[in-house]
Amino acid sequence: MATLRSAGRLPLAVTAAGAATLALLAPAAAADVRYEPGAPGMGDPYFPDLGNGGYDVTHYYIKTAYDPGTDELTGTTTVKATTTQNLSRFNLDFHKMNVRSVRVNGRAASFDRTGERELEITPPRGLRKHSAFTVTVRYDGVPQVLSGPVVFDLPYGFLPTRDGATVMSEPDGASTWFPSNDHPRDKALVTLETTVPHGLKAIGNGRLVRQWSAHGEDTFLWREDRPTATYLVTNSIGRFDVSTTTTPKGVPQLDAVDPEIASDPDALSTPRHTTRVTDELAGYFGDYPFTSTGSIVENDNVPPLNLENALETQTRPTYQSPPVERGVAHEIGHQWFGDSVSVRDWRDIWLNEGFAKWVEWYWAEKHGGQPAQLSFQQSYDNPPPIQPDRPPFWDLVIADPTRDQLFHRAIYFRGAMTLQALRHKIGDGPFLRLVRTWVDGKRYGNAGTGEFEALAEKVSGQDLDAFFKAWLHSPTKPTTW
Ligand code: ARG
Ligand code: ZN
Repeated sequence: MATLRSAGRLPLAVTAAGAATLALLAPAAAADVRYEPGAPGMGDPYFPDLGNGGYDVTHYYIKTAYDPGTDELTGTTTVKATTTQNLSRFNLDFHKMNVRSVRVNGRAASFDRTGERELEITPPRGLRKHSAFTVTVRYDGVPQVLSGPVVFDLPYGFLPTRDGATVMSEPDGASTWFPSNDHPRDKALVTLETTVPHGLKAIGNGRLVRQWSAHGEDTFLWREDRPTATYLVTNSIGRFDVSTTTTPKGVPQLDAVDPEIASDPDALSTPRHTTRVTDELAGYFGDYPFTSTGSIVENDNVPPLNLENALETQTRPTYQSPPVERGVAHEIGHQWFGDSVSVRDWRDIWLNEGFAKWVEWYWAEKHGGQPAQLSFQQSYDNPPPIQPDRPPFWDLVIADPTRDQLFHRAIYFRGAMTLQALRHKIGDGPFLRLVRTWVDGKRYGNAGTGEFEALAEKVSGQDLDAFFKAWLHSPTKPTTW
């Protein structure tokens, strides 16, 4: 009884005292919660305005309708994210499209356009650190095609084709067609819902979940269930011939080929090469990192798709013209090196392209072609020609090539040579152990040159400072290492 009585009183007393204390503290505590704007960039030295600070995206739902007659894209992108600080406002990267409305957690938010590609969003109330929030952006317009020295002086981004469009966003083109935290350091799951005029198809990453028709239009719903960097998201639209299969190791595969080139021998063999490369690379480097594979094969006769060019769009590389087997090995190789393990900063690009080029060499070695060491020797003796307006082959510092030389041939060839020279130096067993440890330990994440060097030293037990200095950090041809 006593217990009950005091139990009945005590809370009252505590409540009264607590209320008094709260009344004194609450205004001060509330004033103490400071909300600050998220940074407009992620600190990438080559692309200071790419990506943003203050939040992490977990999922993009990109819903678009495309009109091939006008190239107009109408979209609603819903971004699910988690704050990493108290946010008074935050940015998404978004180029020039007309923004019709922005909602945060279902409530209208004010927005502003600043700089080249910043969409600055101010929610009605600040967002507390570590909370989940949803941003919905409605927009329309013709996505701006980018070009410049950074990607071989080719147009890139969301590219109109003869009857549709294709997407080659690397490195900074994703934000020309969907608002995003456009830096590989913020990966997210992606759902793509694309509506096109009846007769066209839309191909995305991952698995086709559903498709339906209404009012003379067809809609395709795609889902990629592994973390994806923004530049690897695709939304290719055209009159594709689509075929599906499952690789012997059980990876669902979907290939989409432009019907005009469907009888091209290389187009015909792309699905077969893709099956084989997907499974065999898994044997070398460890499990294929994704839950589907395939290809998108475009017709290169149509400007601006008039050069051999490809992009390792996640689970389903995009080829602007039918690839040879080596090209498939390169792009599927990127699924491990670039897509699953991604650059920390864009200057780490040799880890993508050096590895993909080395995979070409290794694939040849494993299939009756020349040994990778011979490919190394040939490139060492006779590096590929470089355009006169680019730095000479041996002048490029591979670990920090500058923004405009991101896809310089030395990134590919000297990058691959670095890996082959390392293989030669530490031995085949330790080298493959290093590669497998790398893709396993960094899976779905990001990693830079310093981390690779550290792991190589750890796995090999060797001091590799002089080796990496010669190969990655010096603007000269390595002679001793
Ligand atoms: N990563 C591509 C390759 O596999 C090269 C860059 C292509 N980028 C682009 N926007 N077209 O070699
Ligand atoms: Zn590549």
